[in-house]
Amino acid sequence: MAAIDRILEHDFIRVTEQAAVAAAHTMGLGDREKSDRVAVEAMRRELDSLAIAGRIVIGEGERDEAPMLYVGEEVGLEKGRADGVGVDIAVDPLEGTNLCATGAPDATAVLAAAERGGLLHAPDTYMEKLIVGPTARGRLHIDAPVVENLRSLARAFERDVEDLTIVVLDRPRHERLIEDIRSAGARIRLIGDGDLSAGIACAVRGTGVHAVMGTGGAPEGVITAAAMRCLGGEIQARLVASDDHQKARLAELGYFDLDRIYQTTDLAPGDQIFFSCTGVTPGELLHGVRFFGGGARTHTLFMSLTRRIIRFVETIHREDLTLPVHFER
Ligand code: FBP
Repeated sequence: MAAIDRILEHDFIRVTEQAAVAAAHTMGLGDREKSDRVAVEAMRRELDSLAIAGRIVIGEGERDEAPMLYVGEEVGLEKGRADGVGVDIAVDPLEGTNLCATGAPDATAVLAAAERGGLLHAPDTYMEKLIVGPTARGRLHIDAPVVENLRSLARAFERDVEDLTIVVLDRPRHERLIEDIRSAGARIRLIGDGDLSAGIACAVRGTGVHAVMGTGGAPEGVITAAAMRCLGGEIQARLVASDDHQKARLAELGYFDLDRIYQTTDLAPGDQIFFSCTGVTPGELLHGVRFFGGGARTHTLFMSLTRRIIRFVETIHREDLTLPVHFER
């Protein structure tokens, strides 16, 4: 069978591009529901136009709480057909809803996909994560003391602990972690949202971040794992239930062992993994959507594990053909 992404590369790029453009129109409006809704609608519309028998495995929530892109929803022109191109899809149509609503950096539209069974159907709970890029892969352990991990990270990057930057979500639950990182001497970048984009950034040399530590969303953890498979990075993770409801939900889905450590390939075991991420607001790795008179320009990171490619794609979207296009480079 041909690699799924060879058939669908441009289609998948279009999916995240369209979600990003829709969301970017709402940047700074302060209306997070609207930002999310338009991104979801655009992504759903594009996914439904693809020649696939797609199944959402990570989405906007369960069927009863999300009108579109809910977990289990079938999408694509071949949906329901046993002979269709079966694709499991994990989406985050707007990663960093608050970032978009406030015009803060690093909001993105993201999609990961794989052959059937290639992505863990993670529950919508929290996940403790340790994310590093290829330089430090295999050198750290999620259960090691923070100071020890930072020393290993520093050795991997051939520098002092003081020269490392660790990204942490700015949450009260991370008070102790932040203290530990500070007392070990490393620098911290606290982010308001978006540990997925931060995870990708730490796997790319030159972004100035070396690891992501702390607890964020489990769905974002699976999508991060898909990206790490393509980038040669690593995520170690453990499911976390923040309350009794989440505990019950995990048990309902058969997740009883909350001590289990998930490695990158447990979260994203597929052989045919691909990943597309388009910037919504300007970020570390990707430009945000830039509008000009007759359209918009997008910046996307597309990666394929099977084809071993990492591709940056700039696209000019001409919405009004009567207007001239002015662009540089
Ligand atoms: P949304 O895009 O759904 O707003 O999530 C953003 C995010 O910051 C994720 O990047 C992160 O994993 C999660 O939320 C953290 O959850 P919480 O805000 O509950 O701490």
